[in-house]
Amino acid sequence: MKFDTPATTNPIDQLKVVGKPTDRIDGPLKTTGRARYAYEHHDEVPGAAYGFVVGSGIAKGRIASMDLSAARAAPGVLAIVTADNAGTLGKGNFNTAKLLAGPGVDHYHQAVALVVAESFEQARAAAQLLRVEYAASPGVFDLAGAKDTASVPRGSRIPDTRVGDFAGSFAAAPVQLDASYSTPDQAHAMMEPHASIAAWEGDRLTVWTSNQMIDWSTGDLAKTLGIPKSQVRLVSRFIGGGFGGKLFVRADVVLAALGARAAGRPVKVALARPLMFNNTVHRPATLQRIRIGAGRDGRITAIGHESWSGDLPGGKPEMAVAQTRLLYAGAHRLTATRLAVLDMSEGNAMRAPGEAPGMMALEIAMDEMAEKLGLDPVEFRVLNDTQVDPEKPERAFSQRRLVECLRLGAERFGWNRREAQPGRVREGRWLVGMGAAAAFRNNQVTKSAARVRLDRRGIVTVETDMTDIGTGSYTIIAQTAAEMMGVPLERVVVRLGDSSFPVSAGSGGQWGANSSTAGVYAACVKLREAIAQKLGLAPGDASFSDGMVRAGNRSVSLAEAARSGELVAEDAIEFGDLGKKYQQSTFGAHFVEVGVDALTGEIRVRRMLAVCAAGRILNPKSARSQVIGAMTMGVGAALMEELAVDKRRGFFVNHDLAGYEVPVHADIPHQEVVFLDETDPISSPMKAKGVGELGICGVGAAVANAIYNATGVRVRDYPITLDKLLERLPASA
Ligand code: MOS
Repeated sequence: MKFDTPATTNPIDQLKVVGKPTDRIDGPLKTTGRARYAYEHHDEVPGAAYGFVVGSGIAKGRIASMDLSAARAAPGVLAIVTADNAGTLGKGNFNTAKLLAGPGVDHYHQAVALVVAESFEQARAAAQLLRVEYAASPGVFDLAGAKDTASVPRGSRIPDTRVGDFAGSFAAAPVQLDASYSTPDQAHAMMEPHASIAAWEGDRLTVWTSNQMIDWSTGDLAKTLGIPKSQVRLVSRFIGGGFGGKLFVRADVVLAALGARAAGRPVKVALARPLMFNNTVHRPATLQRIRIGAGRDGRITAIGHESWSGDLPGGKPEMAVAQTRLLYAGAHRLTATRLAVLDMSEGNAMRAPGEAPGMMALEIAMDEMAEKLGLDPVEFRVLNDTQVDPEKPERAFSQRRLVECLRLGAERFGWNRREAQPGRVREGRWLVGMGAAAAFRNNQVTKSAARVRLDRRGIVTVETDMTDIGTGSYTIIAQTAAEMMGVPLERVVVRLGDSSFPVSAGSGGQWGANSSTAGVYAACVKLREAIAQKLGLAPGDASFSDGMVRAGNRSVSLAEAARSGELVAEDAIEFGDLGKKYQQSTFGAHFVEVGVDALTGEIRVRRMLAVCAAGRILNPKSARSQVIGAMTMGVGAALMEELAVDKRRGFFVNHDLAGYEVPVHADIPHQEVVFLDETDPISSPMKAKGVGELGICGVGAAVANAIYNATGVRVRDYPITLDKLLERLPASA
């Protein structure tokens, strides 16, 4: 089904099942431990051997020698995979060949070997017996030090943008802000580590793994191993979090496949937690400069945002300027992205890549600018709203209700009780403040296919390679099929995460919910037609409800319709150029209240509210869970998360969950989430958008702005730890 004109009324609009706060249909499986994660397919793959990954002890250089003899002779050892015996690895859409080092080493903890043994303990013990000699060479590990060497990224999707005369207009602006901000490297630190079980049957490979994008990764694995994609099957039914870290094939997948080939039996590999942080991917640190010029009336005349980040040679930048192209009005504009080469592990997408760190800077800048103008920070944002793409005024937003989000949030949060003068509100030892920020994340749409079956019991089964990374995909897909086929949720079976199913949008970039359910919608439209045809009904006349199909005065149960054999339909939603005609984005507003201990600088988040405008909310319960999870992650980004770089030796020092701090329950107060009642007919027949990434965008700055309001101390370098406040706290009363 081609989607190239705005959606009109369709069966989803009945909202009998869609739009309801349904519990997760996979919830009982997960809470009772019966959901199988990648490492747990014991009965499907009996007798798997265990692989243990050895990571490089240097960041840059080469492997001078490797002595495998002691490890080979260790009890239970079946095979050792290294670059010497692995054969040539091909390059997937990203550089999968680099998932195994040798002789060159590109970054610390890059895999240098996989030791395969009968038991996990034997594999781990033998791995300690590998003797690897390295010849280290100097590397570049410090983004600030490398900033001056940064250049325009090659093949960048976001080239520099210039509109009007930024420099002249900024220089002439009566009120100006020119400030620099920084965000650190961050880790996805998802609960489930990267893990895979690989099994060969002749030249056919099956891998049970934990992956967000089944089709991308099936293709990448095939290219890496140099075999046809049709010979590779990837299965990823349950995923314990990804946040972008599982968009691509990682070392566990490739090494499990190579290990299984070498050992001649199935092999399972989980990346040890202390290996994950330097072996896999992270959100790159950024240095950002923001300049805003405005008239005394508060209207922005010039807005400029530049960002610097680093990556391995041939890598990609963090596109932290993305939202500044779209969020606020202003005739004269500039954005620029620069990339430095660093010899650290690969930087890549983490929840709202671009906007998440970009909004952390931009929304502090907006708070600073409002103060300079003597305007309320919410009103300053409202004043500079735009209903068209400010770089291309002929392009309107499909929906843009940022102002309503800000106003409703301010009202609900009691923003009018905020003391504009910072450092004035004191409750005992606590300095108390409120902060706000806009939320913004683009809404992408991606082709997505599904197959739907109707059997003679009247059960509807959906099959698509869409993944559920903890987001609720199983549930919203079941709701979509139930609505379309007119059956209760209990009559729908959803089967996901298998490359033998039709290719979906996958889980990434918050496009999954809208795109994948739209694919299911398309397949259900076809199944409805097939049922009508089977019964000799005109498709336009048939209606589906209560397990029945009705046309005129005929009424037949779905079970009856499939009595002579299962009916199957498959289709994909394909998006035309509505995305070119309209700018599609999601919007919101975050409000945060903090208390800061006047003596110790300890920061406690006391209240949080998010208001989101993200099209139709397919399931308010799972959507709320997405947003409160994202708000929590935003607090982590504001106050805790930081991969500490050893700038001499080139690795992240705090590479485990003891050293990489994220919020726990005690850090997070009650969180309120409000969704505007909205449908976006430009987004898809579902009229939905994504919320999973919107929820994190802006939170960090709202926390930072609340800390400023509480204390009068402006911190522009994340995370805002108490040492950055302590010396500057107001003298205690
Ligand atoms: Mo997302 S960071 O594209 O999973």
